[in-house]
Amino acid sequence: MNILDITKRKQAGEKLVVLTCYDYSSAMILNNTDVDILLVGDSVAMVLHGEENTLPADVEMMAMHTRMVARGAADKFIVSDLPFMSYRGELQTSMDAVTELIRAGSHAVKLEGISGNKKIIKHIVQSGVPVMAHLGLTPQSVNAFGGFKVQGRDAAARKQLMKDALKAEKLGCFALVLECVPADLATEISSSLKIPVVGIGAGAGVDGQVLVFHDLLGLAGDFKPKFLRRYLNAGELITTAVNNYANDTRNGDFPSAQEAYD
Ligand code: KIV
Repeated sequence: MNILDITKRKQAGEKLVVLTCYDYSSAMILNNTDVDILLVGDSVAMVLHGEENTLPADVEMMAMHTRMVARGAADKFIVSDLPFMSYRGELQTSMDAVTELIRAGSHAVKLEGISGNKKIIKHIVQSGVPVMAHLGLTPQSVNAFGGFKVQGRDAAARKQLMKDALKAEKLGCFALVLECVPADLATEISSSLKIPVVGIGAGAGVDGQVLVFHDLLGLAGDFKPKFLRRYLNAGELITTAVNNYANDTRNGDFPSAQEAYD
């Protein structure tokens, strides 16, 4: 999968499958799956580091997780998030952040919002680095939104989202993530753009879906937003397996003679 294949998918009417990935062992598993794109999302700050939101993620954290994923998933197209504020300062500082993520093994970067980011998006694209835009519920703006809330509900917000999506395409972004927006608006945006629109909480009328690995597998505790479909309850399976190990150890059933050296 490369940038050209991704564009062709939309033309062919074939959906893109995107999943977050943050570490080497998960990357090795996902490298042998039918997932198209691995996203080293800044959600890693919440999911793996236990933070309340994505704001504590920094370039060092994102580069470290990108490196792990790139080592484990040599065959996948990898997109890494530019973390909070890393693309909002001087052009050179923003480009240093991009350079770190690409050198860590990413093939593209994702950033949130269009307004205020036009110059940097253009510069990254012109530097030969594919850019994925992210609109709707952009978690780096959680404090401005007053929480993790569905976006694009009123007429003005819908109009602005459509305008930003069209601008993302015009600036040269190769794809757009739309997070937590009404399904009819997401469908409308998808049919107005040539670039693929990948949704999360944006309904089925878009060009692909993205989910967080730990959410899909049931490894994220009670977190169960409306849009999430859990494909496994791995949390329960792991608890059972670990308790079986604890029981076997306490009963003297583990290790057996076959599991010991002569
Ligand atoms: O950080 C992330 O995981 C994301 C996806 C939820 C789209 O941005």
